[in-house]
Amino acid sequence: MLEKIQTPIAAELQRYVAIFQEAMNSDNELLASALAHITRRLGKMMRPTLVLLSARVAGRIGDDVLHAAAGLEMLHTASLVHDDVVDESAMRRGQRSVNAIFDNKAAVLVGDFITSKALTELALTRNIDVVGRMAWLGQTLADGELEQLANTQLTTFDEAPYYSVIAKKTAALFSSCAYIGAMLGGADAAAVATLERFGHLTGLCFQMRDDIFDFDETLDVGKPKGNDMQEGKLTLPVLYALAKTATPNAGAASTPATEHAYFRRLALKVRVHEASRLEIQELVDFTVRSGGVAYAKAEMCRLRDEAVALLASFANNEITNALRLYLDFVVERQS
Ligand code: IPE
Ligand code: IPE
Ligand code: MG
Ligand code: MG
Repeated sequence: MLEKIQTPIAAELQRYVAIFQEAMNSDNELLASALAHITRRLGKMMRPTLVLLSARVAGRIGDDVLHAAAGLEMLHTASLVHDDVVDESAMRRGQRSVNAIFDNKAAVLVGDFITSKALTELALTRNIDVVGRMAWLGQTLADGELEQLANTQLTTFDEAPYYSVIAKKTAALFSSCAYIGAMLGGADAAAVATLERFGHLTGLCFQMRDDIFDFDETLDVGKPKGNDMQEGKLTLPVLYALAKTATPNAGAASTPATEHAYFRRLALKVRVHEASRLEIQELVDFTVRSGGVAYAKAEMCRLRDEAVALLASFANNEITNALRLYLDFVVERQS
């Protein structure tokens, strides 16, 4: 499916990969070996694909668009390197994470290096709005990850803090890819704003899908499962299950109401890292049987529909069709 999405931009994507690989280099031996390890697996290239498609909606893919795509993917890459330190995760893209092979100290510095390299790529566009957007984006990603950390202190199970985190840590990057691509491609202000919104909604869907993966034992996504709760993160499926009002059933030995209270207490233990693996598994099972995963999927599809509708303002051609497929991939993907 990804191949089909990328067909209309295949030649440009090849040039993009060359620019990306060229930039992910250093004379420093340790850096060079970490960068070689990282670039052994390129990932799905969701973000550069969105930059290129958004540029093509308006028309042109010049070198500035390719450099912007490389810079944005590098910021994504750096955020993964740092994320695996923060999440204490040992696997990424089906191979050991940078923190697992080297150590946390090296991973922090490698991530910093890649972030700065990303800025160099963005500066090559010579467009001050693009550089400004990138600066905003870096701050927003960090803000989102910090907010997520702070949310482990919450004692409530509202959805609003969840959506705020995913908007910052994931959707901001997708919206920036669409915004920068559209702007450099020469789209008018209205089209840039529409594509930016499309990117935002797509990014929300992307993270919701990722969070659903954590509850699915049957998929191999190249990174650990059940890691979110191990990390104290309560995502949309479990928040829904916990917030759903329990039906009182007086008289029964274990009523839905007492079961509900039990899982709310357990969820608070998860947040402070005091829950055992077995307890986390119990909470996962409760989430699934309470319809939490189905609910999160339905919410994701609602946002997907909103995003699809935005494309109606553009000509119906192979590019808008690729964007539609892109969105399908985001919600249906198995990896
Ligand atoms: C992982 O992103 C980080 C999230 C926002 C969930 P991807 O799933 O796009 O990672 P790669 O680049 O394809 O490995
Ligand atoms: C998304 O969060 C990562 C970033 C936005 C950096 P996750 O922690 O859920 O991502 P994965 O699951 O490790 O890829
Ligand atoms: Mg993580
Ligand atoms: Mg995740």
